[in-house]
Parts: sequence; structure tokens; C-alpha cells
Amino acid sequence: MSVPLLAIDRVRKAFGGLVAVNDVSFEVAQGELLGLIGPNGSGKTTMLNLISGALSPTSGNILLSGQPIAGLAAHKIARIGVARTFQLVRVLPSMSAVENVVAGAVFGHNRLWGGEALTLARELLARVGLKGREEIPVAAMTYIDQKRIELARALASNPHVLLLDEWLAGLNPSELRIGMELIREISAQGRTIIMVEHVMDAIRSLCQRCVVMNSGTKIADGISASVLADPEVVRAYLGDDDDA
Ligand SMILES: Nc1ncnc2c1ncn2[C@@H]1O[C@H](COP(=O)(O)OP(=O)(O)OP(=O)(O)O)[C@@H](O)[C@H]1O
Ligand SMILES: [Mg+2]
Repeated sequence: MSVPLLAIDRVRKAFGGLVAVNDVSFEVAQGELLGLIGPNGSGKTTMLNLISGALSPTSGNILLSGQPIAGLAAHKIARIGVARTFQLVRVLPSMSAVENVVAGAVFGHNRLWGGEALTLARELLARVGLKGREEIPVAAMTYIDQKRIELARALASNPHVLLLDEWLAGLNPSELRIGMELIREISAQGRTIIMVEHVMDAIRSLCQRCVVMNSGTKIADGISASVLADPEVVRAYLGDDDDA
């Protein structure tokens, strides 16, 4: 493989004196399901914000299929082919499930309109387990169902890269199993995914490879089983009270 699908090259993000992402580099291959882990406050969400364009890096490059995207407006990066879900679910509560997903189809990489967008939205809602509930206002739906909608909306843009920020957080054990299966299926269909996650069982079972951040710095990058057994990684997590 000559050009990786996504290349993060010495990316830095400072908020005043706080360096949230400290010259981090890693690559993501086409079709890979990469885990991005680290204790609370280690810079994971900031990294996703830099890739999706919600934030501009202080320095460094981000290349999607060799094309520089760092610092472009979020809507431009979405158009080029990056979609995401948010750590705190963001859906349009007054709109129905299907309307939320249509919004993803219209504004993303795909740019479908009208009937085509609607057909795709219904298909994706069925795929995430919401068949028959397409017309319900999102405000009346449970947390996991809102998460399903957010995932369907991200997929509706047919992104080259899908960014999941703790998509599995807050699910009960049976929902977690369903959620993991869903991510596995989406990955098996060839979608390239970066998943930020605190649920280590999910990382172990879904991600062949993971990148670990601690205080803004990348401290490990490799096969999940060995990375998770790395003493430096274990030490970083032991200092973190919030991790389960
Ligand atoms: N917009 C911002 N302005 C100032 N500081 C910020 C901003 N966003 C994040 N930070 C800080 O940057 C650091 C990294 O935050 P970030 O949200 O990326 O961590 P995280 O790894 O996603 O943590 P968690 O696991 O708790 O979600 C934290 O110290 C946070 O307070
Ligand atoms: Mg976060």
C-alpha cells in the first residue's frame, strides 16, 4: 500500500498553554478498524475534532488519500468523506428518525436528494435496528435508539472514514453486545473506522490494532492484545479513576 487512507502527521493542538494533542502521528489503512484509547483528558476527542475539522491543528498535517484536509472547514471535510458521531449524542430532537438520517445523506460525501436520500435513510435505519420506527420524533426515543440514529446519519454520507467517539458508552450489557455486533458488521462491509472507546472488551474483540494516547502524547501503537498488555499503557490507565 503506497498511500494510507488517512495519515496523521505530527499533529499538534494547543489550547493556550495546554497541549491537548502533542505532535501525534499515525496512519490508518483502507478498511481498517482502529481503536483510539487513553485515559480521560488524553486528547482523543480533540484528535477526532482535528480530523473532522471541528478544530484546526496548531501544526502538523492530516492527509486523506494523500489530500491535505487539516484546517479545512468541517462541512468541507464532511464533503470530502469524513463522518462522525459525538461523545454526547447530537441529533435533531424535533425531527423524526428518518429526517435525521436524510440530513446526513444530503450534507455529506454522498449528496443524495429527495427519494434517493429517503430510500437510503430507511435502509440504514433498518440496518441499525430501527425498522418500523422511522417516523418517530427523535426526542421520544431512548438513548440507544438516538445513538443508532446518529450512526445511521453518519453512514448516510457514505464516508471514506467513520469516526466514533465512545459510541458504545452508556449502553447496558445486552445493548453493548448489539452495538459491538453493529460496528463489526459495518467494518466487515469495508468501511474504515476509528473508534474512541473506554470499553476495553470492545477494543480487544473489534480492533486488531489500537493507538494509545496519554496527556496528549501517543504512547503506543500496534496489535491491540500486545498494546493492552504494555506496562506503560497499563500504568496510564491505573492512574485514571474513571476507567472501568
Ligand atoms: N475547546 C477546548 N478548549 C480548551 N481545552 C480543551 C478544549 N477541548 C479539550 N480541551 C482540553 O484538552 C484535553 C483533552 O481533552 P479531550 O476531550 O480531547 O480528551 P479525551 O481523551 O477525549 O477525554 P475523555 O475520555 O474524558 O472523553 C483536556 O485537558 C481538555 O480539558
Ligand atoms: Mg472524549
